[in-house]
Amino acid sequence: MSQLTRTLKSVVTEPEAHHSVKTKVRRNIKASFRKVLEMQAARKDLDEAKLWAIATHIQMNPSLTTHFEAMVIQNDTEVGGSGRSGSQSSRSPSFQAHAEKGSFTFIDLFAGIGGFHLALSSAGGRCVFASEWDNSARRTYAMNHGLVPFGDIRDFTRTNFSPKDNAEVSSLIPYADVVAAGFPCQPFSQAGVSSRNFHGKEHGLKCEAQGTLFEDILIIARAIKPKVLLLENVSNLARHDGGNTLRVITSEIELAGYTLFPRRRENDGSKWATIDSQSVVAQRRKRVYFVAVRNDLVESIGEFNFPEFSPPTIPFALEDVLKLDDELTEQEKLEKYSISPRLWASHQVRQNRHIAANNGFRIGLVEDLSKPAPTLVARYYKDGKDCLIPNRIDPSRPPRMLTPRECALLQTYPQDFWIPESRTPAYKQFGNSITVEIARRVARAIKVQYLSD
Ligand SMILES: C[S@@+](CC[C@H](N)C(=O)[O-])C[C@H]1O[C@@H](n2cnc3c(N)ncnc32)[C@H](O)[C@@H]1O
Repeated sequence: MSQLTRTLKSVVTEPEAHHSVKTKVRRNIKASFRKVLEMQAARKDLDEAKLWAIATHIQMNPSLTTHFEAMVIQNDTEVGGSGRSGSQSSRSPSFQAHAEKGSFTFIDLFAGIGGFHLALSSAGGRCVFASEWDNSARRTYAMNHGLVPFGDIRDFTRTNFSPKDNAEVSSLIPYADVVAAGFPCQPFSQAGVSSRNFHGKEHGLKCEAQGTLFEDILIIARAIKPKVLLLENVSNLARHDGGNTLRVITSEIELAGYTLFPRRRENDGSKWATIDSQSVVAQRRKRVYFVAVRNDLVESIGEFNFPEFSPPTIPFALEDVLKLDDELTEQEKLEKYSISPRLWASHQVRQNRHIAANNGFRIGLVEDLSKPAPTLVARYYKDGKDCLIPNRIDPSRPPRMLTPRECALLQTYPQDFWIPESRTPAYKQFGNSITVEIARRVARAIKVQYLSD
């Protein structure tokens, strides 16, 4: 039994002996212990996830003392060597096989289910800190990467909404060579902007709840000075507020001592940094991916050569991806995932109304499966209208939704990626995720140019 396991078990079984551990934290530990035991029952090789989960639950408690206690636990795990080996064994073998020699460290912010984690670890990186506040996403993260992300990042970056100073942030968050973040996109996305306008709310960087989260990435960058920031957002980012949002982001990154890539050119317009997932998989999905490199590295090594992404001449076929999910036959998929006749009828009525008015709502029915799928979205679980597969066995019957595994494959997650049993979180998590293969290629270019010995 490792030192860490002994300490944690004794906290659970002999809480009186640990006067420094507060009652609420003790309750958290017990709860997380039970939860992780359930996870273990589902998958036997996750011993380290249990340890990380317990450590994380201590860390989630926003009092300073508990942060420090957890830091000690985290370090113990790494010193003893058990923490990393456990997470390696639970990671997808396919990604492990591609892992390159040499290592660098990374931080995974707004981590979701760890698309960036897969990409960066396949380039040889080791995660030293991750943050994600959604419990279901954290569970998926733990099941696949062997560590549970911390909760709300603002517990580490702010005190009463004001930024903590650099020294305090760097005492809470370890140094890493790369900070990756697909920061929350609702305030910038077209759907998010229209809904916020409709409800009379602020959007973009003025949106208190979510827009300022970009600032938290910079608070961390200023404190720990990573070599590279790897960022992702919706394609509307460049267009948002007539380009002002991007101007603010760019100038804040520059003020922090970084150079942004790809460089903006006169004729880029709203296409700046936009990559379409169609270039690597059968999904249409435009997102901006950008990289900020610390100025001293740009001076000593040179400008970042952003990898090229262009869609293939013959598009990737959705049909080929559907075939990869062979956990169920097509008949079984239709039985489990077809939408109801009533919902199908209401989608059609709604679409016809909008076609007549020449606006809005369209059903994402993929009639030609030799083409890519439409963009996966987080709200897909609600009514499936964004991507529907016609019933090819009985075309008179309603179409079906993609299975969660098909969604995972359309975001280029490995075949053995663990997926929650419940559909709603599964669809949300893949709809929110990055396309891993794109990040993997960018991560590899970063590694080759700035992180090789
Ligand atoms: C666009 S998703 C990122 C998905 C991720 N890149 C992936 O590959 O799965 C943004 C994530 O940020 C998380 N989030 C939002 N606000 C947060 C906060 N204050 N602290 C931690 N996580 C937060 C959301 O729960 C969501 O999962």
